[in-house]
Amino acid sequence: MHEELIDELVAKQQLSRKEWILLLNSVNDPLREYAASKARSVAQKIYGTKIYVRGLIEFTNYCRNDCYYCGIRRSNSKVNRYRLTPDEIISCCDRGYQLGFHTFVLQGGEDLSYTDEALTDIIRRIKAAHPDCALTLSIGERERSSYQKFYSAGADRFLLRHETADDEHYNKLHPKELSPAHRKQCLSYLKEIGYQTGCGIMVGSPYQTTENIADDLLYMKELDPQMVGIGPFIPHTDTPFKEFTAGSLEMTLFLLSLTRLMLPNVLLPATTALGTIKSDGRELGVLAGANVIMPNLSPGKVKKDYILYDNKICTGEEAAECISCVEMRMQKIGYQIAYERGDYKKA
Ligand code: 5AD
Ligand code: FES
Repeated sequence: MHEELIDELVAKQQLSRKEWILLLNSVNDPLREYAASKARSVAQKIYGTKIYVRGLIEFTNYCRNDCYYCGIRRSNSKVNRYRLTPDEIISCCDRGYQLGFHTFVLQGGEDLSYTDEALTDIIRRIKAAHPDCALTLSIGERERSSYQKFYSAGADRFLLRHETADDEHYNKLHPKELSPAHRKQCLSYLKEIGYQTGCGIMVGSPYQTTENIADDLLYMKELDPQMVGIGPFIPHTDTPFKEFTAGSLEMTLFLLSLTRLMLPNVLLPATTALGTIKSDGRELGVLAGANVIMPNLSPGKVKKDYILYDNKICTGEEAAECISCVEMRMQKIGYQIAYERGDYKKA
């Protein structure tokens, strides 16, 4: 039943490629629950039963990229495209601050109409208005010098999923103008610059193999990020991957637990995608070792236009509804929402 591999992981925070593959191939319910209970106690030892909240602001759905899995890829002509103005972005943060948030995540497609100067200005304004808040960027690949400017302007964290560590698999998910080496290069730059950096993957993305996942775990161990985003792949009807099936709840939960055990201090969200494939998916994510949740603070009128995959939850108008919903969900399983900045705790 391979509990001994979980025990080894707990002891060494690492496994060999061969062991990862064996473990991933032998997953069943009892083993998953074994890993989850270990992961929970690791998370609780470091972060208690607090779940950090991040206010997500989806500020543009324009994207220069054409990733085969993504609903806002540039070839999807059905998307109603929007951009928030700097003032609109700032008022989202102000609203979030009133609601108690101390981290804002600016997420968008790769939209170069927001120049380095424009973004730098937005970052400065947010940090000036809310100096006690952390600011996370999730805006894809840019030059190292741009990343440096954003950091100097006050951005604290950066999310950039690597999607898959395997070059061949990467090329099956992305058109050829995107390069796996460049994605990893960006992640190294972000870490060097000093961002709390997040990488991550979709579970069950098309053509993903067990070996790919093992390599993702090895890559994450090597990068040693402060955050890891893991959610199931979910098909979007207006993409080339519309016929593929969604990633499994069970494998997503298992990977959350393994990630917690491999990187004990990592900030690990129970993602919206996880809540989309199962109504209590985020609760199960927390019970598998996640310690972050990211309610949507985007203005109600644009929420239904930022759709990366089918049936996305939380597209209702009111951010406050999501907050009370999340509060209740966490309470039900014995956790509490924490409104502090929630920085990475070094070991
Ligand atoms: N299903 C699940 N996750 C997706 N993402 C993009 N498209 C999908 C999809 N169809 C994820 C990617 C990206 C993050 C912002 O959203 O991993 O990095
Ligand atoms: Fe958004 Fe429940 S968290 S509706």
